[in-house]
Amino acid sequence: SGDQPEVRKGLAGVVADVTAISKVDPETNSLLYRGYPVQDLAATQPFEAVAWLLWHGDLPTADELAGLRAVEREHRALTDDVRAAIDLLPTSAHPMDELRTAVSVIGAREVAGLSALEAAADPDETVARSARLFGALPAVVAYGQRRRRGLELVEPRDDLDFSANFLWMTFGTEPAPVVVDAFNRSMILYAEHSFNASTFTARVVTSTLSDVHSAVVAAIGALKGPLHGGANEAVMDTFAEIGSADAVPGWLDDALASKRKIMGFGHRVYKRGDSRVPTMKAALDTLVEHYGRADLAALYDALEAEFVERKGIYPNLDYPSGPAYHLMDFDTPTFTPLFVAARVTGWTAHVAEQQAANALIRPLSRYVGPERREVPTAAES
Ligand code: SDX
Repeated sequence: SGDQPEVRKGLAGVVADVTAISKVDPETNSLLYRGYPVQDLAATQPFEAVAWLLWHGDLPTADELAGLRAVEREHRALTDDVRAAIDLLPTSAHPMDELRTAVSVIGAREVAGLSALEAAADPDETVARSARLFGALPAVVAYGQRRRRGLELVEPRDDLDFSANFLWMTFGTEPAPVVVDAFNRSMILYAEHSFNASTFTARVVTSTLSDVHSAVVAAIGALKGPLHGGANEAVMDTFAEIGSADAVPGWLDDALASKRKIMGFGHRVYKRGDSRVPTMKAALDTLVEHYGRADLAALYDALEAEFVERKGIYPNLDYPSGPAYHLMDFDTPTFTPLFVAARVTGWTAHVAEQQAANALIRPLSRYVGPERREVPTAAES
């Protein structure tokens, strides 16, 4: 009836709360982290400094950055309990399910012996736990890929910073500076994006006074979906399916005829292009040059040009990041875990902010089922 509040499916266009962490602006097609343009951060900062910025609101002093680097190094090695939990899973388990399991083990250990209320912690303790988790995730992602390739675990190296060490633990070789830079940029670009589905999931879990690891496990579940983080994995599957640039028009005819979603394109908020794409595309271009993969660049450009021309739908961050991770030699199912290793900083900044807000998130629904007055007496058996 007229007086009932309007149903807003998918909460599209609904401003659910305020945040001081990031500003996604489709009008100017821009993204700010605590007020700084993301492309400037990606061009000048190590990812560790951006993690600090998201958690604390300002870029770190030299001492603060050194302190975070020490904590991150302290938690880099894969712990026996996490390794045992992953080894319980078949190597065919999805890497996002491995990661979700690892966070579950880490979280259970962190708050063992505490009641739910005691485990809820305050924003400062949440940030401390989050810095430890930030340090621990790369080893889990690296171990998962090596396990699937039948390779031995590679121990972390304290002489390497976050991004270089992540690549070292995954491939067991000293990464080239151009690869480290591209990886570092991807981490910064993936770190935070206001109330996207996985971040909002983390806030909903936090709003009941649950703990930060429970919120991250839930967020990983949300990010796995191909409409969200899982899209970067799907972009490479699409490229493999198309094969080469000249096959794009025909492939797109069929895909659009069967109403397929073309992964890596479109966005709920950005409608004229994703503000992060130019920076990630520039990083991809350096990798295409480094690895001599003009064929991949041609396929990338052909699909983008054709799809934009036909549907007026633009690439999102997953479109350039998929091929970039592929060129770095990450297995396709490992791509979304890389997104987690970055987004865990944004998720946990929102957890701390939600804790300070301390307001249960619980929307209404409109019932459209039957009205039945009487329960029938039990049928004669
Ligand atoms: C991320 O929210 C965030 O900020 C997320 C993220 C972050 O940093 O956290 O940016 C990360 O998740 C990026 C998005 C990755 N997902 C994909 O690449 C999957 C493919 N994209 C689509 O599923 C879609 O674009 C969404 C889900 C991302 C957004 O869709 P909306 O805003 O809900 O809009 P819609 O799905 O209703 O699309 C509007 C129209 C539809 O056509 P009609 O049914 O009205 O005729 O555009 C079409 C859609 O079919 N459309 C697409 C399309 N995206 C939109 N058609 C084909 N392929 C696409 N990719």
